[in-house]
Amino acid sequence: MPTPTRPTIGWIGAGRMGYEMAARLAKGGADVLVWNRTRAKAEPLAQYGAKIASSLAELASREIVFCMVSTWRDVQQVVGELLSGKAQPRLVIECSSISLEGSAALRELLARRGIDYLAAPVSGNAKVIKAGKLSFVCSGPRQSFDEALPLLKMIAPAASYVGEGELARIVKICHNVFLGVVIQSLAEITVLAQKAGVPRHAFLEFLNQSVMGSMFTRYKTPAFVNLDFKVTFTPELLRKDMDLGLDAGRRFEVPMPLAALARDLVQSMIERGMRGEEDFAALLVQQAQASGIELRPEDVAVGDGLG
Ligand SMILES: NC(=O)c1ccc[n+]([C@@H]2O[C@H](COP(=O)([O-])OP(=O)(O)OC[C@H]3O[C@@H](n4cnc5c(N)ncnc54)[C@H](OP(=O)(O)O)[C@@H]3O)[C@@H](O)[C@H]2O)c1
Repeated sequence: MPTPTRPTIGWIGAGRMGYEMAARLAKGGADVLVWNRTRAKAEPLAQYGAKIASSLAELASREIVFCMVSTWRDVQQVVGELLSGKAQPRLVIECSSISLEGSAALRELLARRGIDYLAAPVSGNAKVIKAGKLSFVCSGPRQSFDEALPLLKMIAPAASYVGEGELARIVKICHNVFLGVVIQSLAEITVLAQKAGVPRHAFLEFLNQSVMGSMFTRYKTPAFVNLDFKVTFTPELLRKDMDLGLDAGRRFEVPMPLAALARDLVQSMIERGMRGEEDFAALLVQQAQASGIELRPEDVAVGDGLG
């Protein structure tokens, strides 16, 4: 019999985020069975002791199932398939960035089956997970949060509980609206400083040590200085989150002029062909083009602050 501290875990989704999150659980000694639509992406997790499932149905008899896919539509698909048989988990922890409405529909669907549900989206990219600096924001029954906490702590040092229902979803949406606005602003000021004659690495070195510097500005510095736009988070996923923010703004009647502008700039970059294969930090390139300058890598060794 599994003990309460070592429940059986099912993990849905081994994309950029899901892979690293499941890896931390497996490395920590948890009993994890992972399913990914593209099986090959999940297979390397076996080296850390994870088991790899061939079908979603295999995960249904696990006690706790985590889900980390892309959109609400994808969550609906995988959870529908997970629950297509008789077996079912006791608790579902859903970590994808989805809408309040999607999250509420999921809660209803799970409640009908008597399954507890914790909404647990995250802040940080795959490198942040590896560096042990991810953070969760959670909502749902307090008891589910308390039950999940030891597992969440294996994945991330920080897990905030913000209340009942779907409150974690609005916190995550607000967070990513901020992300979109900040990356565009960072691109604008970096290009301004460069066009006025300051090398990007010198400008960002100062900014990162100033009161305006953050974990985010530091870990985006190598991309901005050396133009390495290997994807951490796609422009399309960022657009999804900006749209979720604008939808929430309409629903709660909150004007969001900066978010609307930043959303359209992300849209422009997608239309220019910067979609799935480039990081959203390539907004810098779009800003440089709009400013009439061509960027070149500075080939300067700069840290990402993640240690
Ligand atoms: N990347 C970040 O920095 C970051 C940070 C915080 C939150 N998030 C959020 O975390 C979630 C995952 O992001 P990511 O960057 O890890 O994306 P990703 O690398 O594109 O991974 C998406 C995952 O979802 C699976 N998937 C998508 N649609 C599916 C479907 N219909 N059925 C089954 N599986 C499906 C994919 O399977 P395949 O491998 O088969 O395609 C893959 O495992 C998103 O909601 C994103 O907004 C991302």
